[in-house]
Amino acid sequence: MYDTKANIGALFDRIAGHYDGLNHLLSLNIDKRWRHEAVKSLPDCSQFCLDVATGTGDLAIAIVQAGKAQQVIGVDLSDKMINIGEKKVRDFNLTTNISFQHADCAALPFDDKTFNVVTCSYGVRNFAELDKSLAEMYRVLVPGGELRILEFAYPTSRVMRSVYDFYFTKLLPIVGRIVSHDKSAYDYLPQSVKSFIWGDEFLERLHKAGFANTSFKSQTFGISMLYKATKL
Ligand SMILES: C[S@@+](CC[C@H](N)C(=O)[O-])C[C@H]1O[C@@H](n2cnc3c(N)ncnc32)[C@H](O)[C@@H]1O
Repeated sequence: MYDTKANIGALFDRIAGHYDGLNHLLSLNIDKRWRHEAVKSLPDCSQFCLDVATGTGDLAIAIVQAGKAQQVIGVDLSDKMINIGEKKVRDFNLTTNISFQHADCAALPFDDKTFNVVTCSYGVRNFAELDKSLAEMYRVLVPGGELRILEFAYPTSRVMRSVYDFYFTKLLPIVGRIVSHDKSAYDYLPQSVKSFIWGDEFLERLHKAGFANTSFKSQTFGISMLYKATKL
């Protein structure tokens, strides 16, 4: 159902107004810590950063606030998510550092070797064309450039899986439905996590796109993963 770019863009357009609030509420604010860890792992003071599937811009804002990049461009398929991101950037007085563009990750509107850093938080599992999108991220990075990807995973321990299943497949869809009045969106989100690849399998896709020095780090019992890679 949410397997085309138009459908994915429309889904996030529909939930954009509730996205930030629900994100922080449903993750008990742990999502901020996961993004912070990704930001901390970046090299200091890069010039140009591209934040792919930027949504409402939380990662882009955190990167600039931590002094990790001078300029960040955030791209996304959903104009409504971008509009909220633009307002946040104005509120934080960061309009000279962060800008947004409507773009598909599988066809990035930038020259080869433009960015020192490419980042993506909780976007890749939604990509209709994963390999093409990873190849695009590789293309726009300068040699020596760094990639950081955050994505949900499925915990390996049985106890954590039970907690996770209850939380993500029972509680989250109900709360999401009540707050956003959107049934299918909050059914899709947990399903997309369970059906997506993670760990070594995801590293293989990064290798296939050309990346080297790949690694991943589990966050909070394996609920989230931080992937690192370099373009040599
Ligand atoms: C779960 S949100 C994550 C937003 C943000 N990065 C964050 O950490 O909160 C996923 C985002 O990916 C975007 N997206 C999905 N497929 C995309 C694509 N092919 N190109 C660009 N953005 C895409 C959606 O529009 C949505 O805003």
